[in-house]
Amino acid sequence: MTIEDRLTLFPVSTAIQNDKMMISGCDVEALAEEHGTPLYIYDQTELDRAAGLYRRALAESWPGAWSVTYAGKAFLNAAIAKWAAGHGFKVDCTGAGEIGIAVHAGLKRAQILVHGVNKSEEDLLAALRHAGTIVVDNLSELRKIANLAGTGPIPELWLRFQPGLAVQTHHAATQTGHEGSKFGMSEMQIMEAAAFCRQHGLPLKGIHFHQGSQFRDPSPLQPAIEKALDLAQEIGLSGEWHFSPGGGWGVAYHEDELPQPDVQEYLRAVTEWTRESCQRRGMDLPHLHLEPGRSLVARAGVAVYRVGTVKQTGDRTWLLVDGGMADNPRKALYGARYSCLTVTKAMENPTEKFSIAGPFCESGDILVDEILLRPIEEGELIAIPVSGAYHISMASNYNGARRPAVLLVENGKIRVIVTREMINDLMMRQIST
Ligand code: LLP
Repeated sequence: MTIEDRLTLFPVSTAIQNDKMMISGCDVEALAEEHGTPLYIYDQTELDRAAGLYRRALAESWPGAWSVTYAGKAFLNAAIAKWAAGHGFKVDCTGAGEIGIAVHAGLKRAQILVHGVNKSEEDLLAALRHAGTIVVDNLSELRKIANLAGTGPIPELWLRFQPGLAVQTHHAATQTGHEGSKFGMSEMQIMEAAAFCRQHGLPLKGIHFHQGSQFRDPSPLQPAIEKALDLAQEIGLSGEWHFSPGGGWGVAYHEDELPQPDVQEYLRAVTEWTRESCQRRGMDLPHLHLEPGRSLVARAGVAVYRVGTVKQTGDRTWLLVDGGMADNPRKALYGARYSCLTVTKAMENPTEKFSIAGPFCESGDILVDEILLRPIEEGELIAIPVSGAYHISMASNYNGARRPAVLLVENGKIRVIVTREMINDLMMRQIST
């Protein structure tokens, strides 16, 4: 694999001009000077490109109605919620906090879908007030919804099915569809839930499952679709009904994982299996929903760090940078593999082997185990591609870290969409005695 392959992990608009890295016409070094590091840069053109792939592939391959619901857990703020709505997508919100962000962004009821495995009363009240759809995880939740609903409108309810089948992901922690997972209901529980909805006049409109996140082989979806459609038929879903086989389509994080998993191939498989299964059963074609997070936003995001120290221990040369597990815990949590380029002279011959780590007080605070780069000096900038999903949304204040600023760039225009946390922000919840 070559250094050119690494460049293809970055947003499509990324170019090296006069030895400088440019993203959508913006000079990355200048952005880092002005906005500080660690810095997250999202490319609007790349976000739109990924959204367009889903829209086109669904329009081409699904004969009926379809929707995309952006899984907000991957990365959510007002600007991104608006971006999703601008593409006609709904936003999947986990709990009252994410619902609050979507409402703040101006999203309407029909644009908000609520997920969650242990929705609190606060979550359910927010969902009843603001959402168009609640995906019900369990029977206890259904009883709570019936009790809390009062006289107001009740969002459409979809039941979350646990198909007993997971997809192959990068780590067991991101599998969800297997038997014994904490998510969803068994066949028996789904039947019970459907009966409960009938008894209480609740608007049961759909069935949902999600088998895991970061997969590139869609084949385990086929038996899960079969099981889910059997159930949908059993509980009498017909006419205007909704079917969601979740999200989870993967992306390549490292040049060794290229080519990028193909969204079109994934959607062709899902739509064909669903259509064929419905036809075989004589069922009405459902309104088909896909729920991607990572494959919409991961590649659009680039994390930029400044090298503070170059240091040797044992046979390793460390690049110690100013961010790490507090803004990107994915390596520490799942052993995720990342790549990297220098922000200047990125295409120079990579002759030196480095390990890249952050400033946090833990040996697990490593961003890249081993990578070849050109010789690097203290004070230089590095950029880590495919940083757009599950970094900022899982970021912490470990060691008093202040969460990074986030920029959205497009054709030379720059917008700060999330400001950098300040030391004062860390004080906000402190009560001195
Ligand atoms: N739908 C449901 C019900 C989900 O739980 C998830 C992700 C998605 C959709 C979107 O999956 P995506 O398309 O983004 O893969 N923190 C882990 C990933 C956790 C995924 C949680 N659920 C990571 O960084 O790999």
